[in-house]
Amino acid sequence: MTHSFRTLVGCAVLIAGLWIVGSPAPAPAGTPDLPKESYKKAADADLKFLQTRLDELAKADEPSLRSAKPATAATLMLATYADILGDAALKADVLKVGEAVNAKKYKEAADMAKKLSIKPGTPGKAGGDLPKFGPFEMAKDKDITYLPTTMKLFSNTQVLKIPAGLNIEKDLKDWTAKDKVVKLDLAAVELLAVRSAVINEYALHNPNEKARNKPATEKDWKDLSKQSVDLSKDLVAEATKKTPDLKVIRAKLTLLDAACTNCHNKFRFDE
Ligand code: HEC
Repeated sequence: MTHSFRTLVGCAVLIAGLWIVGSPAPAPAGTPDLPKESYKKAADADLKFLQTRLDELAKADEPSLRSAKPATAATLMLATYADILGDAALKADVLKVGEAVNAKKYKEAADMAKKLSIKPGTPGKAGGDLPKFGPFEMAKDKDITYLPTTMKLFSNTQVLKIPAGLNIEKDLKDWTAKDKVVKLDLAAVELLAVRSAVINEYALHNPNEKARNKPATEKDWKDLSKQSVDLSKDLVAEATKKTPDLKVIRAKLTLLDAACTNCHNKFRFDE
């Protein structure tokens, strides 16, 4: 063994040791670990959303890019669900739909989306890499592609009279309002939570420029998005219990809403 090689090995061992001592067990990252049945329900809902949105875009005289972004995001969501559902064909085909949307070929995308179907196979493992989207991978800073596109799904169904996202932000506010207690629809909570888990997992992997500035801010970003993923997972678990505890659900929805706002206050450029 040469001297320099030995030094190198020594350093590597030391670094590995420090890494193990210095950090808690590495957080499992990647596709959120949620029940397959919950992913299936989300897949049904988001496929419908995608098909409807693409029909609208295909018919529009001046299709808006703001309405198209959530369609692209929905293809990423469906590709993620497909991984767990063990539906490789859905994953491959829906990403092609996403590419057509990204190329503004809405009619073609709408026709392709109509042919998509969900056929669960041998369930895939959670924790794998989130699906990558070709056109987004070409960008130098991935956060300016994945992040605003997936976050758009959180927005209201209509923004400035243009079809927008899945209403998640507004639902969270309405369901946790202090002045008016609304009756919770558990199926809707489950759906919101599956979507939120996946969108926040995309955020976890795509810290924006403000967050990447310093290791401390990047850690803050990761903590906030991880916290949002975990709360979303807890919500799915509670909402799908035989006798869900509505108090627990309300408390977790409130914490999730706070995590969203917290991150926005720290890291959004536009607020
Ligand atoms: C880790 C940080 C982080 C977390 C957690 C987070 N967001 Fe965001 N969100 C952002 C950033 C940054 C943007 C701005 C993205 C851009 O436009 O580049 C954003 C944008 C948005 C938008 C605007 C999308 C648009 O362009 O119309 C909405 C709505 C939104 N987030 C809702 C939510 C909700 C709801 C949650 C929680 C369930 C949440 N966010 C969690 C960082 C976060």
